[in-house]
Amino acid sequence: MQKLYIIVLILIVVSCSSESDKGDEKSTSEKPAMSSEIDKKVAALLSEMTLEEKVGQMTQITLDVITKGDNQYSSSQPYELDSALVHKAIHTYKVGSILNTPGVPLSRQDWYKTIKTFQDEAAKTPRQIPIIYGIDAIHGVNYTIGATLFPQQIGLAATFNKDLVKDVAKISAYETRASSIPWNFSPVLGLGRNPLWPRLWETFGEDVYLGKTMGVAMVEGYQGTLGDPNTVASCMKHYLGYSVPLSGKDRTPAWIPERELRQYFLPAFKEAVDAGSVTLMINSGEINGVPVHASKFLLTDILRGELGFDGIAVTDWADINYLHTRHKVAETIKDAIKISVNAGIDMSMVPHDFEFIELLVELVKEGSVSEERIDNAVSRILKVKMQLGLFENPVTNPKEYPDFGSDKFAAVSKKAAIESITLLKNKDNILPLQKGTKILVTGPTANTMRSLNGGWSYNWQGSEADNYAKDKNTIAEAIVSLGNTFMQGVSFEGKNDINAAVKAAQQSDVVLLCLGENSYTETPGNTNSIIMPKDQIELAKALSKTGKKIILVLLEGRPIIFNEIEPLVDAVFLGYLPGNHGADALSDLLFGIENPSGRLPINYPKHPHAFVNYNHKHSDNISVPNYYDSDYDQQYEFGDGLSYTSFEYSDLSTNATEMDQDGSIEVSVKITNTGNRKGKEAVLLFISDLYASITPEVRALKGYEKIALNEGESKEVLFTITKDELSFVNENMKTIAEPGDFEISIGDLKKKIKLK
Ligand code: BGC
Repeated sequence: MQKLYIIVLILIVVSCSSESDKGDEKSTSEKPAMSSEIDKKVAALLSEMTLEEKVGQMTQITLDVITKGDNQYSSSQPYELDSALVHKAIHTYKVGSILNTPGVPLSRQDWYKTIKTFQDEAAKTPRQIPIIYGIDAIHGVNYTIGATLFPQQIGLAATFNKDLVKDVAKISAYETRASSIPWNFSPVLGLGRNPLWPRLWETFGEDVYLGKTMGVAMVEGYQGTLGDPNTVASCMKHYLGYSVPLSGKDRTPAWIPERELRQYFLPAFKEAVDAGSVTLMINSGEINGVPVHASKFLLTDILRGELGFDGIAVTDWADINYLHTRHKVAETIKDAIKISVNAGIDMSMVPHDFEFIELLVELVKEGSVSEERIDNAVSRILKVKMQLGLFENPVTNPKEYPDFGSDKFAAVSKKAAIESITLLKNKDNILPLQKGTKILVTGPTANTMRSLNGGWSYNWQGSEADNYAKDKNTIAEAIVSLGNTFMQGVSFEGKNDINAAVKAAQQSDVVLLCLGENSYTETPGNTNSIIMPKDQIELAKALSKTGKKIILVLLEGRPIIFNEIEPLVDAVFLGYLPGNHGADALSDLLFGIENPSGRLPINYPKHPHAFVNYNHKHSDNISVPNYYDSDYDQQYEFGDGLSYTSFEYSDLSTNATEMDQDGSIEVSVKITNTGNRKGKEAVLLFISDLYASITPEVRALKGYEKIALNEGESKEVLFTITKDELSFVNENMKTIAEPGDFEISIGDLKKKIKLK
């Protein structure tokens, strides 16, 4: 029968870099005077404030400082505010911002009571300036009981679906306001380019273009129209270059030449600033021997002068103090405060005491920090508080958020998980499984909500997820409910019974082997090796001896190297950290109720000492035959991801072959679903600059679009290429596009264009 081909035209405007030629405009000035109504109100309020009030506004403390008891972050201690300490913080020290959880997630009612207490106190102060409360709601409002938890950022990137990511951010904002909190420390805009780094999963992966476009989607989703009580202020973090510590350990030194900083790390922040993100958090680390919290070059010259950011720059956790205690660039805490405030911070996440206030007041009185610098910082803080509507409506009431934790939000989370989970191997089309196939579920990540959610889930390290997400399915629960068997085999606690798993495998048709990592984040997640642990390898080897087909599921925050067992498994699903609905999503994918469409947002390394990004240089792939084995050799490549249907790419064409510097070229490609089931396809456009004065990358992503196609259906996808997509940062720190030949590739199709 002849198939009906439907051609739909999708116009995709590749709104790329817009990295304007500002590399040489090293202005040291901050932004000129503000002019809107809000700015006038800010100026009037500021003119009435005392120095102590201003410095109080610049101070952020952690909730723990004002709760009863002294056992920080203990989940065994009941949470209760200490009214004397609340009074001290808000009235005596005039603190303007509070953050964090008390170590346990709170109900919405408890959040409401807590934040209302602060706002009621703030209303009794002479200036009645509301508190701005901040939280890490990085995959949903993850410190509120009953919230919708989504896949972590690395999984969202794997969806290659900006609209979906925007929806996720919108829901997160709604549920954050339903928890009475108006400020979200998200998204992470660093690039996940070091596989060891324990926060890789908090990023959108390794690519500049993917990171910046996903970042914009998230900022837009969070902020909507600021002032709408369903939206929150976003916080771009961690500015700049935090994600690539040389050792791979969190907060250890990075070495990034300025050219690379500008080409790889700055664009996501530039785009998010342009998208209107009103706050930014600073990188805790040091780059080229300069802690970012002490860098006027990064915090003022580039951030304000070049990027034009006029929102709040908040420090990360205790980072001013660390200039003295850790980085040793300041002889005293007071010096550290002077350096950092003069470098350009607006708010200090102190967060444990009030010393910052006392010392900064002294510094201003002594003339070491100008009152103008203070006024600048405080104006920005007051402005964001006004933009958020906190003066009129200081605390949002959970009662007004009936959709919190609703089924419709859960469905979006599941959809995001379905579109993120990436099928990397499917030997002999073993998947999807037939209904009724007898499955053994086994492995350390099979029966825990911790490995589905990762860190920042109910508490910092995600260690309480099994208590607070009891009502959600683990993989074992989802699959056993269909009449299958679970045998742990290997656990993170070291309680291993590989023989029992092998016996159970013998009674089954296939094995669903769930390996990977337990939850962690930041420094506690530091590791000396990302090679798969021995007991997990042993389990895989023992199971493989049964001759049963093995479907490997990897739940992990960073790519765990498993080359030793990869040949033993028939299928591989990379789940990343898919959130509370990840197990249900995986179950639907296994049985073909859903069709996989996730794509890898990183290169998945095969060897422990050979980390190379996909957009590497040509000289990254030099090897001498018969000597050491040094080829560019990845387990899986950025952009990989299989489907149960097949897509054919054809008719790649351009409307011109040559382009002026201010011109554009339209690229079109036809995609046809040639298989026998509907599916989604991420169409990725790469560009290779063939010759350039700075060694060109072999290829770089410059456009993508996720489309849905029924069987037999075709769509034409259109991309627009401008100079921005052909640019790079040159030796003089200027973003330029050099005349010459470029190659466009989409799927296996290639086309050359010339820039004049
Ligand atoms: C992290 C930030 C986070 C902050 C507040 C820091 O340790 O680096 O990403 O926003 O804590 O919780």
